[in-house]
Parts: sequence; structure tokens; C-alpha cells
Amino acid sequence: MRFETKAIHVGRQVDSLTGAVTTPIHLSTTYERDIDGTYTDGFLYSRGDNPNRRALEECLTSLEEGHDCVTYASGMAAIASLIEALPSDKPRRIIMPDDMYFGIRSLITETDIGSKFDFVMVDMTDLQEVEEAIKSAPTGMVWIETPSNPLVKVTDIEAIAKLAQEGGAYTVVDNTWPTPVLQLPLTLGIDFSLHSVTKYIGGHSDLMIGAVIAKADSPMLTNLRAWQHSKGAVPSPFDCWLALRGVQSLAARMRVHCSNAAEIADFLVQHPNVEAVHYPGLASHPGHSIAARQMSSFGGMLSFQVKGGEREAMAVAAKLRLFMRATSLGGTHSLIEHRSSVEGSGTMAPANLLRVSVGIENVEDLKEDLIQALE
Ligand SMILES: Cc1ncc(COP(=O)(O)O)c(C=O)c1O
Repeated sequence: MRFETKAIHVGRQVDSLTGAVTTPIHLSTTYERDIDGTYTDGFLYSRGDNPNRRALEECLTSLEEGHDCVTYASGMAAIASLIEALPSDKPRRIIMPDDMYFGIRSLITETDIGSKFDFVMVDMTDLQEVEEAIKSAPTGMVWIETPSNPLVKVTDIEAIAKLAQEGGAYTVVDNTWPTPVLQLPLTLGIDFSLHSVTKYIGGHSDLMIGAVIAKADSPMLTNLRAWQHSKGAVPSPFDCWLALRGVQSLAARMRVHCSNAAEIADFLVQHPNVEAVHYPGLASHPGHSIAARQMSSFGGMLSFQVKGGEREAMAVAAKLRLFMRATSLGGTHSLIEHRSSVEGSGTMAPANLLRVSVGIENVEDLKEDLIQALE
């Protein structure tokens, strides 16, 4: 089966009790034993496994071309588990991009994860800097986020996977922004693909789930499964059901997100009140050729810098009528945010930068909204 077909069929079957073609939501927390004490249907207690979570994990495994998938209550729960699941025989040193998703910075500074591991921040787009960091000390994990947030920088996944493997480190790609429709990290030599399912996979800004898809069996995967069950940060059956509904239209939605974003990037580049546009689909973007090689299209996320400073950028956001001023991304509706004020101290976002999650509205309506806001 090809991607679109797998997104609709893998993990689901007609309900044998009722003939329902849509998987029912199984809210039961517990499952009855057979008279011999066994669990013939394979489910025991919902934290351990349940039909909706299993269906979602099977579907995501298939879409990412992986071996197995472990889901969590949010993308951040998946991130925390990935870090803490690093097996104890691996070095406690983790190399991260200096422009990683801001929630990870908070995880490191606000929880004891920061003192349990040695986090080394590098510019992941600079291969020489990454190689030096990997060779300078034994490393347990190398973390990639591409395209990155909010400057939409592009990292060469295959090159970093090779460097990390030579150094014996596990590799992770946060694949939330491109989704498996546009980018398949496990086929490029990466060990774990990570998702905030909350974003494009769910697709409608109405659920929270995180997912890790593993390329192969490993002690780290065993830990991830144990963390899910024993630490208990699990997604609800209803959220899994919503995610399985959302994922069916993922490929179709991504096509519109990508074409709308490309058109808006072209429009913004030519606008006299715009200082810079960050979108990997633009030939002028420094990561354009790498993105063209490792992504099938350039995604629905972009950022731009308004001429002037923070005041001018805020004024543009304030005048928009269709783009909602809200954080997050990946839903059907377009969102815009002034990233440096969201991230606060330590942000790498310029003060005049606005980040846009381009939705799947009619692109002419979106452009007209931008025209009046940028006047
Ligand atoms: C790239 C990326 N990774 C991870 C996360 C965390 O996901 P969640 O909000 O589902 O915890 C986010 C959230 O914005 C994100 O943008």
C-alpha cells in the first residue's frame, strides 16, 4: 500500500461485533480475563494497551516505515521519555540543535533532566561543528529538528546520522513539522522519529499526543515502552481515535499546506514592508538544496521579518483577520505568532519575526488578509 492508502487502512478493521466501519472508541479501562485467567483479546488494563492506542501506533509505524511506535500524552512527554530512556551503558551526553523547540529548553532548565544529562548545543546546519562536538567526547544521543523553529533552518539528516553512528550515538529527528508525508527520517539512517501528533497528524487543533517511531528493536525501545506503561503519561483512547481520524486526510491536507505556504512565501518576498522570509522552498534559502533532496515538498511553516522592529511586527499581527494570533501549528486554520515574546529570554527569534502556520483556507483569502495587514 502507498502512503494515502496506509493512512486510511492500517490499524483499522470492520468492528466484528457491529459491522461498524469506523473503529469504536474503547473507553473501558479494564478488560475481562477468560475463565482460565488469560486475556484472550490481548488487552488487560488501558494504561498498558487499548484498541485505539494500538490502532494509532500501528498506523504511525507504517507511515514512518518503522519497526514500532510508542505514543504518549503529549509531544513533550514523548521528548522527556526519549531523553530519559537513553540506556545506562550509553554516555549521558546529548547533542542538541541550538534552535531546538523551545519546550525542550524549558524541560532542561526547569526539571531535573537538566542535571542528569550533559546537553551540548550546536548549530546543526554546520556539519563541521557537529562533527567536532561528536568527536570531542563520547556521546549518547544526537537530536535533530528540521526544518527548525522559528528560523526554518534545514539540517542534512543523512550526513548527521552517519557522523552519529560512527560515534556510537542514537539519533532522533523531531519530524513534527514535515510529517511522514514530506520526510522519512528512518529511511535516512535515523533511529527514532518523534512527533507532536498534536500538530499536523491530528490536524485540527483538538487533541494532544506525542509519538516515537523506532527503526528497529533496541534496549532504548524497550525502555520507551516501559516508560509509557510505568510512568503512565499515556494518551486517552478518545485522543487516539481523533488522531486516527485526522491522519486519514494528512497527505491531502499537507498538499494544500505546502502549496499555500509556497505561494505566501513568494508573495511576502516581493512585499516592500517585508525584510526577510524564511521558507525552504525559496531558492534563496540556504537549506533549499538539502530540503529538496530529503523532503518531498517544503512544508506549511514559514516565518518572516517585518521592516522595522517588534512594534511593526506586532501591528501586522494585530491587523490580520483570518490568521489567528495563537501559538501551535499544523491545524486547518492559519495561525501567526510573535515568537520572541512567546519564547521570552534566551530566544533566538529576531524581535521583528512572525511565525506562520499556513492553513488550508483559500490562498487568495490569506493573501488578501496579508495585503491589508502589511499596508
Ligand atoms: C517541533 C515540536 N516538537 C514538539 C512539540 C511539543 O509537543 P506538545 O505540545 O504536543 O507537547 C512541539 C509543540 O509545539 C513542537 O512544535
